[in-house]
Amino acid sequence: MNKPILIGITGGTGSGKSTVAKEIFKSLPEKNIVIIEQDSYYKEQSHLSFEERTKTNYDHPLAFDNDLLIEHLKDLIDGKKIEKPIYDFEIHNRKKETITVEPKDIIIVEGILILDDERVRDLLDIKIYVDTDPDIRIIRRIIRDIRERGRTLESVIEQYLTTVRPAHLQFVEPSKKYADIIIPEGGYNKVAIDLMVTKVKSIIAQKQSM
Ligand code: ADP
Ligand code: C5P
Ligand code: MG
Repeated sequence: MNKPILIGITGGTGSGKSTVAKEIFKSLPEKNIVIIEQDSYYKEQSHLSFEERTKTNYDHPLAFDNDLLIEHLKDLIDGKKIEKPIYDFEIHNRKKETITVEPKDIIIVEGILILDDERVRDLLDIKIYVDTDPDIRIIRRIIRDIRERGRTLESVIEQYLTTVRPAHLQFVEPSKKYADIIIPEGGYNKVAIDLMVTKVKSIIAQKQSM
């Protein structure tokens, strides 16, 4: 197999990163593409109680095990399969099980701090920042975290003000300068997603003809 192409998708919480990644994935019926979520690489926290785990700053670079993420990306680049951790937002911890991920031609890596880490940046061929206004992002996050991540309105607001917003301003927003492409509004920006899909298909066709 030729070296895979790595596409990094970053942006603030609720910007639509995961949706953009899934839309690109859905548009490629051949499925020679895999998504690696940085969320899967939140540090193992079994040594802490649930109460203590609710207090972790999940928006700070230190919350992530980027060493493992980078090791896994390098394995995929080398054509090796990986055991990707599975993260459970409801318990603020990794699950015991892992999921086997086979190497593919296209690897999408998505998460809030993908472009913040120089070591990750250096592995990426295409860098995307999904840029959505903070008022829209917090509204999306409130709805999603209550529906899908077992949170209350009060807990989402408290976390947003104490850790999410400050870390966004300190680490996420400044990483926009490293992006090759900025996608406004995220998830259902059909023009931007179609452009990405066309690019990805041309990369795959080129690889297959080699
Ligand atoms: P992120 O991974 O950046 O936090 P998600 O992709 O999970 O963002 O999107 C957050 C929420 O907003 C999800 O519930 C998703 O369905 C919704 N969403 C994403 N993009 C859009 C959009 N362009 N318009 C409306 N809702 C969107
Ligand atoms: O998909 P999204 O970019 O929103 O995922 C990252 C967000 O998940 C971070 O902003 C972080 O606050 C949140 N998170 C959380 N609880 C955890 C782990 C992450 O609220 N246990
Ligand atoms: Mg996401």
